Amino acid sequence: MSHQTVIVLDFGGQYNQLIARRVRECGVYCEVKPYTTPLEQLKAMEPIGFIFTGGPNSVYDEKAPHVDPAIFELGVPVLGICYGCQLMAHTLGGQVTAAQEDTAREYGKTETYYDTTCKLFKGLPEQGISWMSHGDYMAKVPEGFALTAHTDACPNVAIADEKRGFYGVQYHPEVNHTQHGVDMIRNFLYEVCGATGDWTMGDYKNTAIRDIREKVGDGKVLLALSGGVDSSVAAALLAEAVGKQLTCVFVDHGLMRKNEGDEVEAAFARWDINFVRVDAEARFLLKLAGEAEPERKRKIIGEEFIRVFEEEAKKIGRVDYLVQGTIYPDVIESGAGDAAVIKSHHNVGGLPDYVDFKEIIEPLRLLFKDEVRQLGRELGLPEYLVMRQPFPGPGLAIRVIGDLTKEKLDTLRDADAIYREEIAAAGEDKNINQYFAVLTNTRSVGVMGDGRTYDYTLALRAVTTSDFMTADWARIPYDVLDRISTRIVNEVKGINRIVYDITSKPPATIEWE
Ligand code: XMP
Repeated sequence: MSHQTVIVLDFGGQYNQLIARRVRECGVYCEVKPYTTPLEQLKAMEPIGFIFTGGPNSVYDEKAPHVDPAIFELGVPVLGICYGCQLMAHTLGGQVTAAQEDTAREYGKTETYYDTTCKLFKGLPEQGISWMSHGDYMAKVPEGFALTAHTDACPNVAIADEKRGFYGVQYHPEVNHTQHGVDMIRNFLYEVCGATGDWTMGDYKNTAIRDIREKVGDGKVLLALSGGVDSSVAAALLAEAVGKQLTCVFVDHGLMRKNEGDEVEAAFARWDINFVRVDAEARFLLKLAGEAEPERKRKIIGEEFIRVFEEEAKKIGRVDYLVQGTIYPDVIESGAGDAAVIKSHHNVGGLPDYVDFKEIIEPLRLLFKDEVRQLGRELGLPEYLVMRQPFPGPGLAIRVIGDLTKEKLDTLRDADAIYREEIAAAGEDKNINQYFAVLTNTRSVGVMGDGRTYDYTLALRAVTTSDFMTADWARIPYDVLDRISTRIVNEVKGINRIVYDITSKPPATIEWE
């Protein structure tokens, strides 16, 4: 089945995949193509619209990326964003210059005034914040274009030639800071390009499965399943696509939360794949025995993980493909211009060096976290797995402060399970991005019944954050905290005191170790 397609033409900007994601969010299929793609190839995709992205260059730079001017003769609407807008103006006979100091150079949130008779702004407020990031100025707009938005500093932050369906904006409608930015993109798609909204996550799934089958053929595929959202969704996708050709190795290091290992195993029972669960708790605990220093713990766990995985991989023999659950935010882009260097952060660091395989497959590479979750639902993964909050690779080993024992881990598991249960029951899980319990290595005196206790202090941590680089402590209602505290001290042996962590990051980090 073919879909209406929008092409995002990539000029090396920061937000290219975000634009694509916004288009998908509006129910329209979209592909990002480099600006160097030959026009014939773009034409063959029969796009209903083009979106030109931003980019680090100035159109008048010698090496600035350009487009074949014939793209404007195809009768296909174009939305130019930032550099894309300037490029369109430049190519169609306008004039773009470096902005003079303090005049038309704008960065950040800017009050903007829109002409709502322009299709791009139809039905939207006449005034709002837009996110600017441009140092260049359109001194002269091309013939046929009208000015459709302005700021106090700049008369032409949006231009439109409605007859030909050409629109340009100097700001970034795709970022959250621009109020109604997504609505503007939706207007472009539906009011200008004639989109019908024929694209869903179900279609995405089917296309991804088809592509994987084509690539893998009858080859063997290996995947390290951690139980996190990304590796689970990648595993489900591969399971659906190639079934028995897939081997999932799930290294159960015994440092997971309560019931987590069984939940992961159960979630994959419905697929006919080779599912290997390695019970490695004893060997991890042995390696970690007596080790109290956080970075050493991490290192030991990372190394042991690779050892176990390597042993399992050896049993399978040579595989053709290794799957990784890398998602778009893991793909850190650095460098400038069209020669951007892309580094990727692998969920299981270092694995490829130890396993004999031909190629890596990263089927989630272009998706954002919430899209990954949606795809997981589409694949029939249970909600508790799809909505799982981030969980560090070293697991509970860095949430038991100081040296580890199985007993301490079990105590933490029970307390953490109660904490999570009560937070969910109170509906607070919708407002909190990550929450967990920490077993401190401090003991204090308490009284229970008529007797003295000398037990551990448990710390509760809960944060709100969008990027996990900075975070604020969550304002959990006192009565919810009270219920959690009462239940934990009553139900979990070995804990007689509960404290709530009220530090943000920075200066603290989210995890305690
Ligand atoms: P911090 O503690 O640095 O945590 O504020 C930020 C986010 O990263 C997670 N985290 C880890 N994830 N391996 C991981 O895979 C680790 O060693 C690790 N340490 C912290 C943490 O849970 C939070 O989401």
